[in-house]
Amino acid sequence: MKRAPFVGLAWTVVLGALGAARLQADNATISMSGPTTFKQTDGAALFQAICQGCHMPNAQGAVGAGSYPSLVADEKLDSADFVMSVLLGGLKGMPSVGDMMSDAQVADVVNYVRTHFGNTYPGAVSAADVAAARRQATAR
Ligand code: HEC
Repeated sequence: MKRAPFVGLAWTVVLGALGAARLQADNATISMSGPTTFKQTDGAALFQAICQGCHMPNAQGAVGAGSYPSLVADEKLDSADFVMSVLLGGLKGMPSVGDMMSDAQVADVVNYVRTHFGNTYPGAVSAADVAAARRQATAR
């Protein structure tokens, strides 16, 4: 894996540029199977490992050094496409954490946040849906 160090470096630069010190500070507790992938395979575990560092354990968000929106009863989560695009393409202060996950992992965590924290949106996405969204995100 000759390219791995560069991928890791790029990720560090992206996080640094976005001022996402929170995730970096939490890196010690994030368990990864390699330099750029998470090993968790269900939505709850992925949320705990990745998302809650910024969005907080109950997804209520936080305002302090940065502004991390609440995902509780968040109407924007009605659109699975929107959630996938945020994870795969990033959104302003949010890095594209989906780059560090498999299609199945992205699908699991998208489905998890859309059906927890007061969200009850129908229409679970599959790994194939994520693969299609990922092609779109990288084609931009
Ligand atoms: C490094 C911090 C960070 C991490 C990690 C992170 N987010 Fe975010 N997220 C943000 C920030 C900041 C925003 C607000 C972006 C903006 O609109 O300025 C955001 C926005 C979002 C939004 C859009 C919410 C809305 O109503 O506009 C969703 C959905 C979301 N994140 C889901 C997730 C999920 C799911 C994960 C884990 C897989 C995750 N985030 C991990 C920082 C983070």
